[in-house]
Amino acid sequence: MLLVFVSILFVGALADEKDGGLAFRVPLNDGTSIPALGLGTFLGFDENGVKEVEDQEVELPVTWALKAGYRMIDTAAAYNNEEQVGAGVRASGVPREHVFLVTKLASHEQRDVVGALNKSLERLNMSYVDLYLIHTPVTYKPDHSGYDIIDYLDTWKGMEEAKKLGLAKSIGISNFNISQIERLLANCEIKPSVLQVEVNLNLAQNKLFDYCKTHGIVIMAYTPFGSLFSKESGPPPPRADDPTVVGLAQKYNKSTPQIALRYLVQRGVVPIPKSVNKDRIESNINVFDFKLTDEEMETLAKFNKDYRVVFPSFWQDHPYYPYEQVAVPAPDLFKG
Ligand SMILES: NC(=O)c1ccc[n+]([C@@H]2O[C@H](COP(=O)([O-])OP(=O)(O)OC[C@H]3O[C@@H](n4cnc5c(N)ncnc54)[C@H](OP(=O)(O)O)[C@@H]3O)[C@@H](O)[C@H]2O)c1
Ligand SMILES: *[C@@H]1O[C@H](CO)[C@@H](O)[C@H](O)[C@H]1NC(C)=O
Ligand SMILES: *[C@@H]1O[C@H](CO)[C@@H](O)[C@H](O)[C@H]1NC(C)=O
Ligand SMILES: *[C@@H]1O[C@H](CO)[C@@H](O)[C@H](O)[C@H]1NC(C)=O
Ligand SMILES: *[C@@H]1O[C@H](CO)[C@@H](O)[C@H](O)[C@H]1NC(C)=O
Repeated sequence: MLLVFVSILFVGALADEKDGGLAFRVPLNDGTSIPALGLGTFLGFDENGVKEVEDQEVELPVTWALKAGYRMIDTAAAYNNEEQVGAGVRASGVPREHVFLVTKLASHEQRDVVGALNKSLERLNMSYVDLYLIHTPVTYKPDHSGYDIIDYLDTWKGMEEAKKLGLAKSIGISNFNISQIERLLANCEIKPSVLQVEVNLNLAQNKLFDYCKTHGIVIMAYTPFGSLFSKESGPPPPRADDPTVVGLAQKYNKSTPQIALRYLVQRGVVPIPKSVNKDRIESNINVFDFKLTDEEMETLAKFNKDYRVVFPSFWQDHPYYPYEQVAVPAPDLFKG
């Protein structure tokens, strides 16, 4: 009798989270849940700064992804593609409530969080996002004319307001380091649910991982392929033709990028691989029908070199710059 009752409850809990997608869902500390893998949409930089998004360049990939079983899309005000992301979601035919939509607060809009989110929602043509992230603790003046020093504790109050208004179901942070998260946790009303940072085979983020686990914060892994496809010799292995990773790919009849993504999913971090190619989009989510052994996970963990692919050292004179200082900072990709 008790067993029947318990199993009905259990089935009920699963049914609540049915979204028709391929990824299982990871619980968040605010009672909601996030799909275990999503689509990244940042197209990167060219010689003029953030690359301009062309006709349907992001809209079509978003639609392909949702049709292929993705249920999470990662965008940001700074990517200049929110209109296309919203259009892609609508064109997919997947109901809005089955899609977990993530956007981010740009570094020059942190004095008016709710106003900035309203503008994102207008571009997305949606009434709420599932997750709103502070894109970075590094802040600029609204006209981009230089740094505007804003304490992220003040920005966080705006994030809490956005959640209370129902404009963001969950709130979180991106590119924060451990001491910044500690300070935030000691001074907030609502805890962040998610931290989005770079995690991949080259950059395990072991300390952050343990810290976030202890404090109930889920890590979203950006740049999940690390240096897998790098053509330069500097970044550490593995490349896509690495014998160890190829061996695992052959064992499971998978590709090396699928092994890299499965590794992250099994660690309990949420990767957001970016692709604008239909076949690669479909392949990147096809990682939920096999499981690496504990020994294989340990073998893959040994690739860690604490090496960052995304290393915005051009921000290092900002007081809230989260990373290591270097002797010669890289040129500013954003061009101010
Ligand atoms: N919060 C932050 O500050 C932050 C920073 C960086 C990134 N992000 C987010 O994380 C997402 C992913 O990171 P990312 O774009 O830096 O790097 P990534 O997803 O690790 O790598 C993307 C690159 O891999 C290629 N690719 C994708 N799937 C492939 C496959 N199966 N085989 C071969 N090549 C493949 C893509 O090319 P094609 O498109 O041609 O397939 C693209 O060149 C971003 O799009 C963005 O949403 C957030
Ligand atoms: C944001 O939008 C909400 C709901 O549409 C509205 O009530 C609020 O006044 C707006 N706030 C700002 C700061 O624009
Ligand atoms: C906004 O979304 C609604 C459906 O929710 C749709 O009817 C309308 O055409 C969309 N507007 C734009 C500008 O895409
Ligand atoms: C291996 O994977 C490919 C592509 O996903 C599939 O078409 C093929 O049937 C698989 N082979 C086996 C033996 O499962
Ligand atoms: C974390 O960020 C703070 C700025 O808020 C900085 O002073 C500190 O050095 C950073 N910690 C590490 C380990 O980089």
